[in-house]
Amino acid sequence: MKALEGVKILDFTHVQSGPTCTQLLAWMGADVIKVERPGVGDITRGQLRDIPGVDSLYFTMLNHNKRSITLDTKNRTGLEVLEGLVKVCDVLVENFAPGVLDRVGLTWARIQELNPRMIVASVKGFGPGPYEDCKVYENVAQCAGGSAATTGFREGPPLVTGAQIGDSGTGLHLALGIVAALYQRQTTGRGQKVLAAMQDGVLNLCRVKLRDQQRLQHGPLREYRQYGENIPFGESVPRAGNDSGGGQPGWIIKCKGWETDPDAYIYFITQAPVWEKICDVIGEPEWKTHPDYATPDARLPRLKAIFERVEQWTMTMTKFEAMDILNKYDIPCGPILSMKELAAEPSLRKTGTIVEVDHPTRGKYLSVGNPIKMSDSPSEVTRSPLLGEHTDEILRHVLGLDAQRIEEIKASGATGGAAKSIAAE
Ligand code: COA
Repeated sequence: MKALEGVKILDFTHVQSGPTCTQLLAWMGADVIKVERPGVGDITRGQLRDIPGVDSLYFTMLNHNKRSITLDTKNRTGLEVLEGLVKVCDVLVENFAPGVLDRVGLTWARIQELNPRMIVASVKGFGPGPYEDCKVYENVAQCAGGSAATTGFREGPPLVTGAQIGDSGTGLHLALGIVAALYQRQTTGRGQKVLAAMQDGVLNLCRVKLRDQQRLQHGPLREYRQYGENIPFGESVPRAGNDSGGGQPGWIIKCKGWETDPDAYIYFITQAPVWEKICDVIGEPEWKTHPDYATPDARLPRLKAIFERVEQWTMTMTKFEAMDILNKYDIPCGPILSMKELAAEPSLRKTGTIVEVDHPTRGKYLSVGNPIKMSDSPSEVTRSPLLGEHTDEILRHVLGLDAQRIEEIKASGATGGAAKSIAAE
């Protein structure tokens, strides 16, 4: 038994944000039925393709454990089938551009008529306001949500991050909203609308920067390196380079091999409770009592010099050797792990965080499994569906249609072939 067993999700999502959300729910046991446009499907099936004619890794890595039905929802029969699915599913998840669902004919009022228990969950770029009608992709959300302005080095331009906080981050927020709405429905018997706007999701993840914006009114941000370098602060939170977001100063420093290996670095935190151990390890025992170094306040203006000294020490060993030594003394640190290293990391394979999946046309590939581990609801990662692979199965077993009706639906072109659109009628 899985946590969400019995929950049926009508997955009308595409690209990344929506699909990450429904993939998580599928890993938790929900039956996720992905509705795709006949012939093309989710646009990511064909994007960034590494093998001609085969579903891209972009698609396969975001759509595990789902079933796929092809349906032209702009065709009258296709819309009838979609409405049939609304009646029997618990949650509809979508991340189309604003207004698309209404144009399909699935207004909130219509959905309520069909199934008052239905939860309608949406990702949009922005919440209500001046930008609510805009289309949004990952990097736009990172820029609009405060991440880009606060990422990078002070003297350089704003930067987007490698972590997909706009897409996958918002998918995660939406999944939580869906699960809470399912829980509330047990009491009220009613569905509700759940909205996760990408700007809001990114801003939520940049919470500490809004904290710093307000701290700025009361003086310089002393844990930012520019404080020690006597560079004045402006009116908004500056980019902090690799400064730590918390109260314990940290920085990325070089390790042995950095000249040729772009990832031969370690993140080192001069955590106050272990300062004396740090002094011993790097060979500066007098810093334990020296007034310039002994207290966190005394160290703040000298962070640059301190990390340069620590770096002299870390450059004599690899990041893994440094990690071994520092961990013995409980000194917080972390090697900069490349994707190549992560893909080969045995402990991540063991926990199912990195999994090998077999696909009928692609063969074996690596993916990230469910990052949320539940003791009573284990996740097995199964391959993403081929386009329309489960169309017949869903018509027959989810909608309970007989062979004659299925033939009629197919003949209409609603599941593939040339279908007449409602607009053309
Ligand atoms: N059958 C027929 N038509 C279908 C269909 C199906 N099965 N599935 C989708 N469509 C149609 C829709 O009805 C819509 O048509 P319309 O504009 O004529 O009404 C169209 O396909 C989808 O439109 P849209 O969502 O605008 O796609 P897009 O590729 O132009 O834009 C995004 C993509 C991501 C920018 C946009 O969907 C968006 O802003 N989404 C919200 C934010 C988001 O999730 N962004 C992150 C994506 S990772």
